[in-house]
Parts: sequence; structure tokens; C-alpha cells
Amino acid sequence: MAKILIWDLPVRLFHWLLLLLVSVSVTTGLVGGYMDYHMMSGFGILALLLFRIGWGFIGSYHARFRNFMKGPATTLGYVGEAFRFKRGGQNPVHYPGHNPLGALSVIAMLAALMFQAVTGLFANDDFFTEGPLAYLVSYDTSRELTGLHKRAKWVLGGLIALHLIAIAWYQFARSTNLVGPMITGRKEITDVAASADDQHDPHRYPFRAVVLAVLCGALVYWVTALG
Ligand code: HEM
Repeated sequence: MAKILIWDLPVRLFHWLLLLLVSVSVTTGLVGGYMDYHMMSGFGILALLLFRIGWGFIGSYHARFRNFMKGPATTLGYVGEAFRFKRGGQNPVHYPGHNPLGALSVIAMLAALMFQAVTGLFANDDFFTEGPLAYLVSYDTSRELTGLHKRAKWVLGGLIALHLIAIAWYQFARSTNLVGPMITGRKEITDVAASADDQHDPHRYPFRAVVLAVLCGALVYWVTALG
């Protein structure tokens, strides 16, 4: 049994900052009257998403899309396997990082968040608040994108609910704690899943992470300053 680093610090920071900013965006979006905070948290989410997409190409082993995105056959095979478990039995860890189904939900959440953030840039509420890029499109288009921004929040809400249900299911039905590793980065590997790549990836690219974070922040700042 080995305890190895699966989630590098940038992935963990991304995740918990995302949770914080999504909470702010959802609350300020629903309550109303705090649109400045709503927009600020939306810009932060956009920067985080750009960072995570970039990190999916240049980050450590388990952060990279190509190391957790699987084809339909593998994903369907995993689903079948996931439902054939012994009640209370320990989940055999075949995938130290995201499993194929989890990978799909990660991509769906990233896409839904991106849709929310980008439509927000073009939105306007007919009163005081206007996204920084709303001036680039006609009034009608801006209102249409505002409508999509409002409706698509339910898709995002559904995906977040599924995300939390899946984590709770792993915890209670499979006795597998996924939250701990998202905090510490480390997972106990109980079978041969710890591949050579897992063992050898040093998981340390702090310079890359800082440069990417600065670039993403600067890009979002530039876009938002356009308004
Ligand atoms: C209390 C709330 C939350 C908890 C406990 C939680 C927990 C987790 C855990 C344990 C993972 C890793 C799953 C795995 O092992 O494959 C994960 C991944 C992820 N979660 Fe959450 N999550 C929460 C809220 C959210 C919210 C609100 C979002 C926003 C939509 C979100 C988006 C994501 C994404 C995108 C990933 C993939 C991380 C990556 O690879 O970069 N989570 N979450």
C-alpha cells in the first residue's frame, strides 16, 4: 500500500478557490443587489478556468486531460464495473486520478462554468449592470445571452448536485474518501494502479504554475478592462 501525490497544489488551489467563488457568484446572483461582487467573482472564475485548461496540458501527470479522458468503451466498461460492488466492500482503486466517469463530469462542469462566465461578459440587466463585452454585441443579442446566462445556471446547479452526490456515494457506499485527497493531494493506492508515471512524475512545476496563473489573470483583467 502506497500513499502517493495525485492532486498537485495548483489543482487543489484551483478546486477550493473555485468552490469559494462559485458560492459567491451563486449567492450574489440569486440574492440580487450585489452585482459588483457577482461580476468580480465571475471574472475570478474565468481566470481559474483558463488556468485549469492550461494546466490540463502542462500540469502534472494526473492534472493532464490526456491522462484522465477515456474513450466511450472504457467509460462504459467502468460504469458496469462501478455498479457491481459488494456492499460495504472497499472500492478497488483502478484509477488513482479521475475515473472515466468522473472525468466526464469534470469536463461537463468546466464547460458549464465557462458558458456561465462567458455569457456573463456579454450580459446586461437593463438597469445598472453590464458585462464588460456587452458593447461588442447588439442590445438584442446581449439580452439573449443574459437569458441563456440565467437559464444555464440550472444545468450548472444539476452538475454540482451530481458531483456532490457522487462524492457522498463513494464515501458511504464504497467507503472511499475522495475529499481528503483533494485537500492533502495524497491517496492511498491499494493495488497495482500506481503506474510508473505516478511514481516518477515529480509533480512540481511551480514556475510554470505561477507564469500560467499570472498570464490568465492578466488576460482576464485586460478583457474586463475593455468595458
Ligand atoms: C463541498 C463542496 C465540494 C466538495 C466536497 C468537492 C469535492 C471534490 C473532490 C473530492 C474532487 C475529486 C474527485 C475525484 O477524486 O475524481 C473534486 C473535483 C472537482 N470538483 Fe469538486 N467539490 C465540491 C464543490 C465543487 C464545486 C461547487 C465545483 C464547481 C462547479 C466543483 C468542481 C470540481 C471540478 C472541476 C473538479 C475537477 C478538479 C480538477 O481536476 O481540476 N466542485 N471535487
